[in-house]
Amino acid sequence: MNTAPQERIKKLEELIRRFNAEYYENDNPSVSDAVYDSLRSELRRLAAQYPKSVDQDLLGKQVGGAPLEKFKKVEHKEPMLSLDDVKTPAEFNAWEERTAKLLKDSLGELYAELKVDGLAITLLYRSGILVRGATRGNGTVGEDVTRNLLTIQSVPLQLNKIKVLPDEFEVRGEVYMPISEFQKMNEERAKEGLPLFANPRNASAGAVRQLDPRLTAQRPLAFMAYGLRGVKTSTHQQEHALLDKLGFVTDRRAKSFQNPEAVVKYWEGLLTVRQNLAFQVDGVVVTINDRNKYEKLGTIGNNPRGAVAFKWAAEESTTKLHDITVQVGRTGTLTPVAELEPVHLAGTTVKRATLHNEDEIKRKDIKIGDTVIVRKAGDIIPEVVGPVKELRSGAERAFHFPRLCPICNSPISRQAGEAAYRCTNKQCYGSTLLQLRHFTSRAAMDIVGLGPKVIDAFYDAGLIRDTADIFSLKEENVVGLERFGELSASNIIRAIKERQKVTLPRFIYALGIRHVGVETAQALAGHFGSLQKLRQAKLDELQKVADVGPVVASSVAEYFQNPAHQNLLDRLQKFVTVVQQEKVAGRLSGQSIVFTGTLETLTRGEAQELARANGADVNDSVSRSTDLVVVGANPGSKADKARQFGVKTLSEYEFRELVES
Ligand code: IVH
Repeated sequence: MNTAPQERIKKLEELIRRFNAEYYENDNPSVSDAVYDSLRSELRRLAAQYPKSVDQDLLGKQVGGAPLEKFKKVEHKEPMLSLDDVKTPAEFNAWEERTAKLLKDSLGELYAELKVDGLAITLLYRSGILVRGATRGNGTVGEDVTRNLLTIQSVPLQLNKIKVLPDEFEVRGEVYMPISEFQKMNEERAKEGLPLFANPRNASAGAVRQLDPRLTAQRPLAFMAYGLRGVKTSTHQQEHALLDKLGFVTDRRAKSFQNPEAVVKYWEGLLTVRQNLAFQVDGVVVTINDRNKYEKLGTIGNNPRGAVAFKWAAEESTTKLHDITVQVGRTGTLTPVAELEPVHLAGTTVKRATLHNEDEIKRKDIKIGDTVIVRKAGDIIPEVVGPVKELRSGAERAFHFPRLCPICNSPISRQAGEAAYRCTNKQCYGSTLLQLRHFTSRAAMDIVGLGPKVIDAFYDAGLIRDTADIFSLKEENVVGLERFGELSASNIIRAIKERQKVTLPRFIYALGIRHVGVETAQALAGHFGSLQKLRQAKLDELQKVADVGPVVASSVAEYFQNPAHQNLLDRLQKFVTVVQQEKVAGRLSGQSIVFTGTLETLTRGEAQELARANGADVNDSVSRSTDLVVVGANPGSKADKARQFGVKTLSEYEFRELVES
């Protein structure tokens, strides 16, 4: 049953009005920009069909951010512009071609840097001292928020001296809140019963636009610089280098490229890095490196022609939930899956998304027929965030979890403390086959030719029941099976033999332990160094591994304690040689290192990985034998201990210099 269009229009309009007020008046929207955009485009589509029924004011481009009355106004010496967006490589290439044509020349080198999602700020320095800081406001007039900016550690009050610079200049950049701090803050707010912030950007915008600087100071904010005004350089890259020298934090991943193809590669590569960054980014800013060319192109409206925001496709959208089905996974877990009206998300079309388990569906109050918010972040599997309850028509219906396994019809059960139902049939055809497929797959044991179809055939022929059986396969067992002659049989046996020596991370991943993906497998391998040590690891030891939380740790511990798995591993180890992880030699070889506090440009995991890649031993606590302590913002007692023991401490930047130089 479909909601009558008129009713749908009224509901959409009401919601969009509410979102406008939340965004522009209160700095605190309850939904992401992407969700807002997707509901507005639905309204726009309806307006095309029923023009008279839709409030046209809601469809135009919103001009936001008029300066708030409560602040002193600042007229910008040079307007603070915004950037035109492109969202696909094709659009980016079109920008490049169009701009080169206008310039009547090639664009030359392009400089690409992260587009941090925060609040644009301009800082005025005189004789190296910060004299004023302002928001962008409407681009011409902003708000004087100097006192608030003074509370941010990475906004330098006094700059390093550089002779060639004029006495007065401006530094432009973005104030943002690291994601971990944002989450921490929201957890605290939840405990106190305060309303939560929708995203780090709004939390930072709200914090900077406080009348009382003490309130700003309570929020952990950071500043990333990207531009200089009032200083002439010949390239944008030199601007960055000067900012670094002056003492600002800039994007350490920023780089210059010789052609647009290289920029596209870089942009694609960063998409996977994106989830691991300590702060929110929504794309890459690409600027013509040559300042003369850039200036010559001038501006169009509020946008410079010589730069563009190369954004990643939206990661969230709204769509219709048609049905909920139940899937049986590798570990026998039954997962409810949302069957969706296809929607374009983060570069792919999403038709199905996980609903995790029965409790999640109840907790999120999801009903079949709902309009739902779906999210797909990078490589992460798409998930349903929740329903937009305001858009319900009354025709939605509740979902009931099945009592039997949809694959083998055995009873299903749910253990105390567990969220998931599992098929009680240990030999459930569905999960065994998936386990086998996972084991042989590319990122796991990578056994060429042993794909899903062949596994099914071997299973049906009774040749394999578990992963260890794969290695006792003989040519004569395989010859004669459908599609297998002598040659293909000997090929597959050879392919299996070739993989009997395997690296530790691959082997760990291949086991198919719940919650252990490629990256976690690498972290475990790096920490324990051998399968033997990992098999014996206790829960507390597992929790010490970088990026391994309590859920993953207990899943790993349970896996290795299970007698059936111990037996399987013993059998597997008869055939498979697992190569020990070698210690890397590097700048930090033999040094023991501890991290404390919040880092600005790296996640804790990234920093630890960097240290390990340079040969260091990463530890959790400071002792007399610790060699180095890297101290971030708001450090805990570890920094005090380091001082007490006389252990050398480094700032994040000193650490980076040490390992990257
Ligand atoms: S350059 C012409 N570089 O994105 C404007 N902007 O619409 C100069 N932003 O409000 C912008 N990171 O605050 C530039 N590395 C970066 C940026 C960046 C974030 C923001 C900026 C502006 C918006 C562009």
